[in-house]
Amino acid sequence: MTTTTQPLATSVDYFESIYADAQGDASRIPWEDGHASDALINWLNTVAPSLVRCGARVAVVGCGLGDDARALIHRGYEVTAFDCSDTAVHWAQSLDPTNAGLYVRANLFDLPPRWHHRFDLVVEVNNLQSLTTDLRQEAATALANLLTPHGRLLVICRAAETPAEFVDGPPWPLTESELLEATALAGLVPDSPLSSFCDNDDPAVLQLRAVFRRV
Ligand SMILES: C[S@@+](CC[C@H](N)C(=O)[O-])C[C@H]1O[C@@H](n2cnc3c(N)ncnc32)[C@H](O)[C@@H]1O
Repeated sequence: MTTTTQPLATSVDYFESIYADAQGDASRIPWEDGHASDALINWLNTVAPSLVRCGARVAVVGCGLGDDARALIHRGYEVTAFDCSDTAVHWAQSLDPTNAGLYVRANLFDLPPRWHHRFDLVVEVNNLQSLTTDLRQEAATALANLLTPHGRLLVICRAAETPAEFVDGPPWPLTESELLEATALAGLVPDSPLSSFCDNDDPAVLQLRAVFRRV
């Protein structure tokens, strides 16, 4: 995923075409690795138990084929997993037929009003890095609107030392400042210090993990 122009990369059609062109072969989805995010699993094992009760309402944003959503469902959370791509949603449903109703098509930038302030936890993994700066701000506001007054937003994304130039890509990794600025403008503050670490890929990729709550 390296040579796309910016306007196309930020459109719903762009993601739908990637899933549709893969024709059911997950190895053709650049970001799909067949398992939930290691950073998410680590957070669920260590931090989540003291922060999010079992059975809490959780939204999984840009769920793709549903790897992260399935991990959350198996832990007893009440999950709503959404993606703007019809093909991705049908694919995720086929991978988890028992819970097919939990995967729905929705656009982060045009969410159903009934979802506003509904979720105790919003899980955002590797989606902000697919958006240009202007859309990141809009996305952060949409993510904040999903949260209950005491809800938490978990963000996991690629990290950068300096802001992306948006020449090639996505992904466009975020600096800590960019993430903090976008979330602050959405009325969110970090719940704990941001964590920066290398993932288990080869070569390793620098990542950020952060939890936010309302001011
Ligand atoms: C880079 S992929 C990451 C997928 C998944 N979160 C993961 O970590 O494997 C970005 C995902 O966000 C979805 N997406 C992009 N724009 C969206 C939007 N406006 N609303 C909902 N989903 C969106 C795409 O279809 C795609 O599945």
